[in-house]
Amino acid sequence: MTSRVIPVPPFVLVVFGATGDLARRKLLPAMFHRDVAGQLPAQASLIGVARGNFDQEGYVALARESLREHVSADELTPDAEAKFLARLSYIRADADGDAGWDGLAEALAPYGDRVVVFYLATGPALFGPLCERLGRFGLANETARVVVEKPTGKDLASARLLNEEIGKVFPEERVYRIDHYLGKEAVQNLMALRFANGLFEPLWNAAHVDHVQITVAESLGVEGRAGYYDTAGALRDMVQNHMLQLLCLVAMEPPAQLDADAVRDEKLKVLRALKPVGDAFSTHNIVRGQYRAGASAGGAVPGYLEELGRPASTTETFVALKAEIHNWRWAGVPFYLRTGKRLAERVSEIVIAFREIPHSVFEPAAGPIAANRLVIRLQPDEGVKLWLMTKDPGPGGMRLREVSLDMSFANAFRVRNPDAYERLVLDVVRGNQTLFMRRDEVEAAWSWIDPILQAWSQSTEPPKPYTAGTWGPSAAIALIERDGRTWADGGS
Ligand code: BG6
Repeated sequence: MTSRVIPVPPFVLVVFGATGDLARRKLLPAMFHRDVAGQLPAQASLIGVARGNFDQEGYVALARESLREHVSADELTPDAEAKFLARLSYIRADADGDAGWDGLAEALAPYGDRVVVFYLATGPALFGPLCERLGRFGLANETARVVVEKPTGKDLASARLLNEEIGKVFPEERVYRIDHYLGKEAVQNLMALRFANGLFEPLWNAAHVDHVQITVAESLGVEGRAGYYDTAGALRDMVQNHMLQLLCLVAMEPPAQLDADAVRDEKLKVLRALKPVGDAFSTHNIVRGQYRAGASAGGAVPGYLEELGRPASTTETFVALKAEIHNWRWAGVPFYLRTGKRLAERVSEIVIAFREIPHSVFEPAAGPIAANRLVIRLQPDEGVKLWLMTKDPGPGGMRLREVSLDMSFANAFRVRNPDAYERLVLDVVRGNQTLFMRRDEVEAAWSWIDPILQAWSQSTEPPKPYTAGTWGPSAAIALIERDGRTWADGGS
């Protein structure tokens, strides 16, 4: 089966932070893949902008190295590589000063009214200064769009300030706030599952759903990002954006159509209906953890503080929480969210746990009857499983067993699973904001997160320790078990 390629208009992608990790690991490979798929028009160009002292040749060499590192050898043929690298150019400019900006304006002048995407692959501290210069140097015209990476701010006040600064130069319909989880195939498939099937929607409510679990577990530590991570922590890095976006897609009402504002209006209603987590000082509804040395992928790994190189930090590398949505559909249905670094496995999944049957017609000897579960696996091994009770085959009376109807995307569709950035960058070129966060959504998410941050900043209680390679602190297990439920640990 082959995927369909929707053409995009000619465009220029200008990447600020062009020599940084995101550009090298994600953006260059994503654009390369789209080029190989035949989706980039002949007049698509990429201009890298950074402070580094590169010339054109030096930047092309850096891009070549990135492709060799992040693209499989069978796709990276010499012809494909040469065709893609010919699209690149490099401009040296300062994000914090005016040096180099005339050069950038000159480089863009010949493109006339072509779509220009300014991708700010830099730290958020530079978003304001970059937008201000894009405005002042006359680059933020009607055909220009700006893309900003998360996190938008570090709390509600700073997010508002940042949004103001961006908004002075770019109107909201030309601002694209990336949450790369929304570009993941399996996350988009969640919308297909809910709204292209008549089967689940009638059951998708408090009358039939007992609870929902959303797990985004990583086996890696903070790697080389400890400096950034220590100022953020898991609540800001994962919960405020990726996890709450997943929760919104599970919980939102069906939008009237799949256009950007219809979808984002529905997500916003969910965020606004979130009940405050309540007493964040206690571990009843929210637990923060930090990993200690342990074992991961068969080898010994250091703890967070060793990776950070400091004797103390209260930054959390793990969060588990119980969220509740105050509306008619979800009243009384807990949403348990859990994310962390250095956990037992890399697995992201959503479990819709249905209610138990009201009455059993079977003898006790048939065995326990587990409630049905729909498991949406986001990564790795994307797919959907529906756990059902069946009769154990053969003689010996009625014995019941839980078996899954199992759909693996890799088996169902034999195509390469595109990276989220491939989809998202081209959506910006097309002017489609559906998979990007609107300003009010980001601010609503921060409004819910802020009281937790405040409570933690006043607390003298450090994060609960957990050993690397486990499922987090025992308090996180107690959080759900207190309600008579258990986490579906990986492989569900
Ligand atoms: C990023 C976070 O947004 O998402 C990282 O900043 C995290 O800390 C990453 O590792 C996870 O993304 P993925 O696509 O690997 O699940």
